[in-house]
Amino acid sequence: MKILITGGAGFIGSALIRHIINNTQDYVVNVDKLTYAGNLASLTTVANNPRYTFEQVDICDQLRIREIFDKYQPDAVIHLAAESHVDRSIHRAEEFIQTNIVGTYRLLEVARGYWYRLDQVKSAVKKSQFRFINVSTDEVYGDLAACEPPFTEQSPYAPSSPYSASKAAGDHLVRAWLRTYHLPTIITNCSNNYGAYQYPEKLIPLMILNALQGKKLPIYGDGLQIRDWLFVEDHARALYQVLTKGKIGETYNIGGNNEKTNIEIVYAICDLLEELVPNKPNNIKNYRDLITHVEDRAGHDKRYAINATKITNSLGWQPQEDFDSGLRKTVEWYLANPQWWKKILEKQK
Ligand SMILES: NC(=O)c1ccc[n+]([C@@H]2O[C@H](COP(=O)([O-])OP(=O)(O)OC[C@H]3O[C@@H](n4cnc5c(N)ncnc54)[C@H](O)[C@@H]3O)[C@@H](O)[C@H]2O)c1
Repeated sequence: MKILITGGAGFIGSALIRHIINNTQDYVVNVDKLTYAGNLASLTTVANNPRYTFEQVDICDQLRIREIFDKYQPDAVIHLAAESHVDRSIHRAEEFIQTNIVGTYRLLEVARGYWYRLDQVKSAVKKSQFRFINVSTDEVYGDLAACEPPFTEQSPYAPSSPYSASKAAGDHLVRAWLRTYHLPTIITNCSNNYGAYQYPEKLIPLMILNALQGKKLPIYGDGLQIRDWLFVEDHARALYQVLTKGKIGETYNIGGNNEKTNIEIVYAICDLLEELVPNKPNNIKNYRDLITHVEDRAGHDKRYAINATKITNSLGWQPQEDFDSGLRKTVEWYLANPQWWKKILEKQK
């Protein structure tokens, strides 16, 4: 298969590309605009593989996207390109509307035209096998009270932030292109990911790197917000499974069955660092002393939790990493790869 992946220079996209190049015989065309969150240094281990190609393109640029489809003739699209950070969406939603809604629309239009033409032109790509996988988030479902059961694929959409609203809008477009034009689409809604190569504005890398520098560890409100955490490599495996075995028109929830409060996560990171980096900067006594509670995020969702029974029962996927070992691997990765994150911190200055 030749798989066109959008957003492949991001956190999850790069994990997916490494997974595909290292574990299959498939070809990957990585289409990424390289925003602040895109980083080709996350792909150095596969960059020279003959089955990997990179194209720097904005998914909102319909002409360029059409050229890419014509040039590479993909068998499938996995769409991950997005603006992905909730705080940035609250501060300024424009790019979220552009990429997550308009960009998704333009990509769908190009994919539709390409897919229609597949049986009219000479192409090695089989029209019946073409797939468009839309990678979305559990945040489209809004939040849950402590007593409520986890989200299923039937949970109604009720997004809270500009980010989740823009992702929900993208999902609705994908569903409409399936229903109206029969484009063979599948949607996945995944919980919070963690692992190597995550941009250090997200909770886990931010806390690791702040602690290593002796900086404050800012916790929104009481820190009791609950998220369901999944190791990014498990997400990559799930996406590949959905591509190869998933049913057209279906939605699959993907989650790790790991509900944790934000403060629990930060305590766990501090404890790992006590063990792995006992020599602390700035004469700090304990990493936990750096924890500082700050004003809560506007509209902050209280709890997300995912019921992943459908993908487990129908596609045989389940997470392989448990949270304790996954978090340890993640902390160890950031400790072993300062050249990756120091460049990003330099740019942020
Ligand atoms: N991170 C999570 O916990 C999580 C959980 C569930 C779903 N998701 C979804 O998975 C996808 C990937 O998330 P991530 O955490 O890897 O995000 P990320 O921010 O790390 O990466 C996004 C990538 O998209 C690229 N991009 C942004 N705008 C673009 C555009 N207009 N054209 C082309 N490329 C563009 C960026 O350069 C970057 O490489 C997103 O769609 C996100 O909504 C993320």
